[in-house]
Amino acid sequence: MPKVTFLPSGTEVEVSEGTNLLDAALDNNVQIDHNCGGNCACSTCHVIIDKGFESLGKMSEDEEDMLDEAENLTETSRLACQCVVTTDMIVKIPPKDSDWEDDTF
Ligand code: FES
Repeated sequence: MPKVTFLPSGTEVEVSEGTNLLDAALDNNVQIDHNCGGNCACSTCHVIIDKGFESLGKMSEDEEDMLDEAENLTETSRLACQCVVTTDMIVKIPPKDSDWEDDTF
């Protein structure tokens, strides 16, 4: 079974091929926001693929549109609910800018 490592926690999970990254995380107590419930209608499940990016299918137009709204976009950004796991992957969950706002002042 493919292994997915979630950063920054370093949590490693084994998932059945065909599982999407959001389910892989949530089923293993790794928190990824998912305001629309995995329906490609928000950008809160944004993740950065450090390994295994090439294994993912082409992005749909809907995913591209939603991803445009995400904070901290990179060249290997995807929406976790739209990514099907077929191989070992390393996936970074980016900090949200709003995470920073609460603490400091
Ligand atoms: S959970 Fe909303 S797009 Fe993935």
